[in-house]
Order: sequence, then C-alpha cells, then structure tokens
Amino acid sequence: MKIRKETPADFHDIWKLNAAAFEREVEANLVNILRVSGMEYISLVAEKNRDIVGHILFTPVELEGDNSVTKLIGLSTIAVKPHLQKQGIGSRLIEQGIECCKSEGYDAIFVIGHPNYYPRFGFLPSVDYNFVSEYDVPDDVFMVLELNKGCLKEKQGKIKYHEAFSSV
Ligand SMILES: CC(C)(COP(=O)(O)OP(=O)(O)OC[C@H]1O[C@@H](n2cnc3c(N)ncnc32)[C@H](O)[C@@H]1OP(=O)(O)O)[C@@H](O)C(=O)NCCC(=O)NCCS
Repeated sequence: MKIRKETPADFHDIWKLNAAAFEREVEANLVNILRVSGMEYISLVAEKNRDIVGHILFTPVELEGDNSVTKLIGLSTIAVKPHLQKQGIGSRLIEQGIECCKSEGYDAIFVIGHPNYYPRFGFLPSVDYNFVSEYDVPDDVFMVLELNKGCLKEKQGKIKYHEAFSSV
C-alpha cells in the first residue's frame, strides 16, 4: 500500500470513499467544498492495487485574535473503506499526514476525534494548552499535537475552523 498526495483523478473516488465510511454524504461534500475554498490544504490517499482505500484531509485553522506567524492546521476528515478498517490504514495516513504537515511548515495540528485513538500519535487534550474549540465538544476529544516544540507556550484561546465546517 502506498500513501501519496491526491490528484484530480482521485476526486470522485475520494468522495465515494468518504460517503461509504461516514455512511452519509455530508463529509464527502465537505471535502469538495474545502478543496475549492482557495485555502491551502493537505490531502493524502492510501492506494492499494490502484484502489483508493483511505483518505485524510488537513485544512488550516486559526487561533482567534492571534496575529503571529504560527501556522496551525486541523485534521479535518479521515476515512478508510469500511471493510478494510482496523488494519492500520488510518494509522499510516495519520503518521504520513503528520510528516507532511511538518514538512510544509505547520507548527501544530488540532483534531476533534476519538480520545482513545489520537493520543497514540502524540496528540494531547487541547485544554492542557489552554485552547478551546469553537464547538461544544467534551474536553478530551479536542486535541493538539505540537510539531514545533514550544510554539504553543504562552498562547491560549479559541481555535476556529473554516466556516464550511459550521454547515455540517
Ligand atoms: C476512524 C478510521 C479512519 C480509522 O481507520 P482504521 O484504518 O480503522 O484505523 P486503524 O486500523 O489505524 O486503527 C483502528 C482504531 O481506530 C479507532 N478509531 C478511531 N476513531 C474511530 C471512530 N471514529 N470510530 C471507530 N473507531 C475509531 C478504533 O477504536 C481502533 O482502535 P484500536 O486500535 O484500539 O482497536 C475509520 O474507522 C473510519 O473510516 N471511520 C469512519 C469515518 C470516521 O469516523 N472518521 C473519523 C472522524 S473524521
């Protein structure tokens, strides 16, 4: 299996994969909306025998009121083909995704997700760093991974995702 950046030829398969994994079209449509929103993004696919079996998308987030140069990104969606889940594909996508965010100069990654899953990749509860989500979610599901050690020191506040997330 290979992890690589998406190409336009993958767009339809990525849509189908997200719709199948989430069992609805909302997240699949969100991926399309974010892609054309004009912001930078990191979108990777897991490909096995020429089949797209996994997808991960990262899009920038902002710390409300922060005008510094700190580059923050969010793990926006991750999906693995239902019959291939729990075989490590999601983990490979997250690990490669983290490396990609690092190499593209991001300082930290935020995620809203399963509190038993993301800590294994180094994510910690965002409240430990005094960050809150704009969404009403339990403290332990809103997590952050500092890529540039110390960059989050002295920072605090509300993390905001692209407005398209509010429509889902
Ligand atoms: C979340 C997801 C991408 C994980 O992919 P995967 O290839 O199965 O992941 P891995 O094989 O690396 O790891 C499996 C682990 O994922 C955990 N997990 C993480 N998030 C999960 C979720 N939302 N639902 C179910 N299991 C989840 C499982 O508990 C399992 O933990 P274990 O190793 O302790 O048994 C996959 O379950 C999926 O596509 N789910 C549907 C879409 C979704 O909910 N995405 C996350 C929100 S954006």
